Amino acid sequence: MNFNYTNPTMIQFGEGKISTISTLIPAGQRVLFLYGGGSIKKNGVYDQVVAALSGHQWFEFSGVEANPTVETLNKAVDLLKGEGLVYILAVGGGSVIDGAKYIAAAACYDGDGWDFLEGKCQVLKALPIGAVLTLPATGSESNPNAVITKAATKDKLDFGSKLVQPRFAVMDPTVMKTLPQRQLMNGIVDAWVHICEQYVTYPVKAMVQDAFAEGLLRTLKQLAETRDNQDDTWRENLMWAANQALNGLISAGVPSDWATHVLGHELTALYGVDHARSLSIVQPWLFRHEIEKKRAKLEQMGRNVFALDVGDDLAERTIDAIEAFYQSLEMETQLSDYGTDKATAVDALMAQLKAHGRDNLGEHQSIDEAGMRSIFELAVA
Ligand code: NZQ
Ligand code: ZN
Repeated sequence: MNFNYTNPTMIQFGEGKISTISTLIPAGQRVLFLYGGGSIKKNGVYDQVVAALSGHQWFEFSGVEANPTVETLNKAVDLLKGEGLVYILAVGGGSVIDGAKYIAAAACYDGDGWDFLEGKCQVLKALPIGAVLTLPATGSESNPNAVITKAATKDKLDFGSKLVQPRFAVMDPTVMKTLPQRQLMNGIVDAWVHICEQYVTYPVKAMVQDAFAEGLLRTLKQLAETRDNQDDTWRENLMWAANQALNGLISAGVPSDWATHVLGHELTALYGVDHARSLSIVQPWLFRHEIEKKRAKLEQMGRNVFALDVGDDLAERTIDAIEAFYQSLEMETQLSDYGTDKATAVDALMAQLKAHGRDNLGEHQSIDEAGMRSIFELAVA
């Protein structure tokens, strides 16, 4: 093991913590209050934020979409610059928080902010961000990553910089009460796949990271199984588990994969599939394709997460158990809604990957173009 680890985001966890924003944002800072389609106006979050901002000058920008687009976010950059705003408060799920990260970097850059997504330049400066999380899933509230879409070209790309990681994250699980079941299940599966991306690779005898990952997976499984009995502790545990799944802790010092995410993002970009559902569609097939490289960790997951009996086909049964888990949550495990014939869809997905320079994926960088095509051939119904 050889790694650096720091997570500088201050977490304010629990009911009523939205009020702490008043002191967490330094006095005198002019604030951009960023949010999505308006769910926060129906569950009291908007009013709590407004009350907490009463000592600050602030302007709001709403309408950040699920899978946020650069077209919309650039309008927020214009507002921010025009009004001389210097602090961004993102209130929403991963989309709003990711959008804030783009705005924070683009506002301090003379060129086109899309350059960060295309890797043409690094973020050298960014405005500070605070987050109020309303949907546990992505971990964006305390990580440095953002995924942004250019609607005009259907490009969904990511960038990361410690400079855009939120300074603080308010996590009040009571705000989850208005989440539709579909979004809650999306959250469980997105967090689950984040853990898998950092755990289902190959063994490196990292006992702490493996134990954390398995504990989080068992927690998510249990939350899924008890989804019909949601109470305060159910919400608290899901919000904390999804955060811990992607905050840098379990990936420290171990190999990671992320191929499921790279392939999944193209399903979202082309066919509008929810992020988590793109993952449940890709991952079982990717695991089957990569089974020999991942066999040892799949067996370990089968034993320690699903309590399966040992045997020669344990890795195969673990993948089947993962697939059944997704299906039990009414997540698709194949893409069936794509409006063309299958060959055209696979070609379109492959063209996207090529355009985005995705050559070799996976923990061994060994999923080449032919491998990606094989996985899509399986994942597209
Ligand atoms: O826009 P509003 O009205 O707020 O409604 C949202 C949206 O329609 C709604 N919602 C959120 N909180 C709610 C609520 N509805 C009722 N009550 C509440 N309390 O939920 C819908 C989905 O929101 P969104 O933010 O899009 O979901 P999620 O948190 O799953 O974020 C998905 C985005 O994050 C990216 C994805 O690619 C996608 O663009 N990711 C970001 C990552 C990161 N930054 O580390 C990692 C992930 O792998 C992922 O790629
Ligand atoms: Zn994800």
